[in-house]
Amino acid sequence: MIKYLQLQMQGDAYLKCVNPKCGLEYPIMSTNVQCENGHVLDVIYKNKPSPDLKETFYERRDSKGNIFNESGVWRFRDLLNFCQIDTEDTDECSKYLVSLDGTEGRQSKPYQMSKAAEFIGINKEGLWLQPEGYNPSGSFKDNGMVTAVTHAKMVGAKKIVCASTGNTSASAGMFAANEGIKCDVYIPAGQIAPGKLSQAYQFGAQIIQVEGNFDDALKQSLDDAKNYDGYTVNSVNPFRIEGQKTIPFRALEYLNWESPDWIVYPGGALGNTSSCGKALMELYQWGWIKKIPRIAVINSDGASTLSDLYNGKFEDEELRWNKGNPNTELISRYYDHLDKKGLRPKTKATAIQIGRPANIIKGLRALEFTNGVATTVSDSEMLDGMSVVGLNGFDCEMASGASVAGIKKLMGEGIIKKDDVVVGILTGRQKDAMIPVDYHSNPKNTFANPPKN
Ligand code: F0G
Repeated sequence: MIKYLQLQMQGDAYLKCVNPKCGLEYPIMSTNVQCENGHVLDVIYKNKPSPDLKETFYERRDSKGNIFNESGVWRFRDLLNFCQIDTEDTDECSKYLVSLDGTEGRQSKPYQMSKAAEFIGINKEGLWLQPEGYNPSGSFKDNGMVTAVTHAKMVGAKKIVCASTGNTSASAGMFAANEGIKCDVYIPAGQIAPGKLSQAYQFGAQIIQVEGNFDDALKQSLDDAKNYDGYTVNSVNPFRIEGQKTIPFRALEYLNWESPDWIVYPGGALGNTSSCGKALMELYQWGWIKKIPRIAVINSDGASTLSDLYNGKFEDEELRWNKGNPNTELISRYYDHLDKKGLRPKTKATAIQIGRPANIIKGLRALEFTNGVATTVSDSEMLDGMSVVGLNGFDCEMASGASVAGIKKLMGEGIIKKDDVVVGILTGRQKDAMIPVDYHSNPKNTFANPPKN
């Protein structure tokens, strides 16, 4: 029976270039992250999953000891079945699917946080914040890392490689250690939170310090992966995107698959934006959702590439997906302009200190499909956002505060309405202990609670 199913399902999943005019296809075992013409790739499934699976996913929440049901990622395995296995066969799942004993995504779901709602000025029933920091390595990255490392194992990779502002390296290091494969992480020297760096050491990853910023580290890691046979697990890898789709899946499931009006993310390399866009495109095509939530991407003021280009702040042109042909020359000219002026991305929220978002093309597609918006917030707004989340009893890092600050800003501008239902993603937990300590030591800060002697 299994043999028959495998034969039948052969070729149900494959890779396809995102550019509709190019559309080159590759087998699922390919490790290309781009087509021959330099466009990024999507994982495509031929099968249209039945909405009856909603019931299956719900039932799996009573895991009955099955770690693939406990996992908040693999609970949805039928919608990410690039391994093309029988998803009800636990032996097959165990053989293929990488999991840290079902912990990835397990504790992530949207919560109502009244103090954050009050600060934002939105109806408290309408605001949902989803902490992804309670993943085993402390950030949303684990959602996509299990799928990327699953593919790495499928193709027999001996070493995974990534560049990182810290969370990706922690996640990659953790799963590599658990799977017994090597892991090289390229980090911008001196620019990542100590708690993230210590995780990479702790998990036995080889750290390569790059003089420069994340964009320089990514370039070097991609070159080295190519030259020294490494498997790249950054979000340019289409299999990372597959796992990260479960972030909106979980949010939607908790809202009974009734779409919110908005899903809000901090924007860095735009892997999250891309994966949310792909998830919503698929769910809509399959008829699982009737309404398409709008995506809002929140950059930092000091690392605002997407917001600048999308909002026409460079050369007065609003960069758009444009049916798969975005003006890539405009993007190149923007990067040249940054280089010429010596403008380096700069924010205290180092997680999103990124000038060249590697997923900008898929990010534009996501914004197009969802009628999305992009904006920026300041460091102090992010700190307030982070702090008010804390006052609700939840932990998040400064970059995640961008979701709260961004919702507040967009409400102030009348873009998000008071009665809208909004899901904000809190991408990671605090790994830089001094950020809250410094914040609370300064009585001028909105939520400061300075110590007494
Ligand atoms: N929030 C946190 C906590 C992050 O660590 C990152 C990215 C983002 C938001 C941005 O997400 O790239 O999908 O737009 N961190 C990466 C890293 C770059 O290396 O850990 P994105």
